[in-house]
Amino acid sequence: MTILLTSFSESESEIRAIRNAVFEDEQHVPPEIDWDGHDGECLHALVLGDNGEAVGTGRLAPDGKIGRLAVLRFQRGRGFGASLLRALVEAARNQGLTKVFLHAQTRALKFYQQADFQVSGEPFHEAEIEHFYMSRSLCD
Ligand SMILES: CC(C)(COP(=O)(O)OP(=O)(O)OC[C@H]1O[C@@H](n2cnc3c(N)ncnc32)[C@H](O)[C@@H]1OP(=O)(O)O)[C@@H](O)C(=O)NCCC(=O)NCCS
Repeated sequence: MTILLTSFSESESEIRAIRNAVFEDEQHVPPEIDWDGHDGECLHALVLGDNGEAVGTGRLAPDGKIGRLAVLRFQRGRGFGASLLRALVEAARNQGLTKVFLHAQTRALKFYQQADFQVSGEPFHEAEIEHFYMSRSLCD
């Protein structure tokens, strides 16, 4: 499996195709919430599948927020999501960040816990989906 670290301007069409399929079509997230205008300032990761095509994506904001993690539905459960998350955490560490955080959909809590993220606080709603704040210290 190959992970590419990239920019939005470099990989916009691949990123858009995956997020439109997962967030808009599958999860019915309103496009104006997904496409929030912050992609240009983020580092992006793409994971390539067996044929070299992009099957997953995620982003790291300058403040350490990881988000928009998505793997195409028929490619899930093969470790692509965990690899993307690892690459974004590693990129944050290389940038000198001391902490990464994210808003986890409740159904994905276990996925992030397996990557050493910890929940804090009460659940809240974004795009009508329940989320929890999770973070991971990079000071180890
Ligand atoms: C969350 C997501 C990115 C995970 O991608 P993936 O490629 O399926 O994840 P992996 O195959 O790397 O899974 C890693 C581990 O997490 C577990 N896991 C993955 N998704 C999970 C979920 N939704 N709930 C519980 N556990 C999950 C897997 O079982 C696996 O555990 P294992 O190593 O013990 O087998 C993917 O399910 C997805 O795109 N979901 C829709 C979009 C979404 O909800 N994004 C998260 C927004 S916070």
